[in-house]
Amino acid sequence: MKNLLKTGILGLDELLGGGLPEGSSIVVSGPPGVGKSNIAMQYVYTGLSQYDEAGLYLNIEESVEDVVEYASGFGWDFNKYVELKKLAILDRSIFEKADLELGMDIELLNDLIREMDVKRFVLDSTTVFDHLFADPRPKRRHMIRFLELMKKNKCTTLLIAEEYESFPGKFIAEHFISDGLIVLFWSTYRANTERCLWVVKVRGNKIVSDIRSLKITDKGVVVYSKEVPFTLLKEGG
Ligand SMILES: Nc1ncnc2c1ncn2[C@@H]1O[C@H](COP(=O)(O)OP(=O)(O)O)[C@@H](O)[C@H]1O
Ligand SMILES: [Mg+2]
Repeated sequence: MKNLLKTGILGLDELLGGGLPEGSSIVVSGPPGVGKSNIAMQYVYTGLSQYDEAGLYLNIEESVEDVVEYASGFGWDFNKYVELKKLAILDRSIFEKADLELGMDIELLNDLIREMDVKRFVLDSTTVFDHLFADPRPKRRHMIRFLELMKKNKCTTLLIAEEYESFPGKFIAEHFISDGLIVLFWSTYRANTERCLWVVKVRGNKIVSDIRSLKITDKGVVVYSKEVPFTLLKEGG
């Protein structure tokens, strides 16, 4: 039996068929404000607080300070784990060193992952690859190489993908390369909006692929694994 990592998010592990397969790469895609970073932080925090698993959170959109502050709003003390050397939080500054190719950065990340024995890695977001490669071919090649390295390290990776459309109009390279795909989107009915989650694929797992609603609470994300989102009911709720 392969090892499954629990996200710790109420309702989500059930839809995933138990959790995320160890060493797999899972894309979490969606438009702004839908809960991608929240899911990612909670996944890392669950590893730290419940399973003594080291984490690496690379956020190119926000500074390390902002990530720590945002997490503290949910009662997650990231600084404590940074001090214990169980968590590393990196921001875009690692890519701002002149003349650094992504190839070298990947080696740096790889060293850090081995050194800290990182089990849970988050790349927030994959736009980092877009900034570095205008041409899709080297982008795809580097992403594949990167994911292979993570697999070799038995490091389970969440790739956060920015989506420009509210509901996925098209699937992009990341969606095919990864072992899993979770799509988040905003659903609307009249003046009501609702965050929705759809587990599209997790290689090797028996998933529940029905669309479910997601809420952000003071304690983090909750997925209502049994209920049809009210904005998607036939009569609109
Ligand atoms: N305690 C909370 N209760 C309800 N909503 C919250 C809470 N904390 C943050 N949010 C909402 O979560 C949203 C951002 O979620 P986030 O995961 O950062 O989105 P993104 O998909 O852009 O990464 C914000 O719009 C914010 O209003
Ligand atoms: Mg975000």
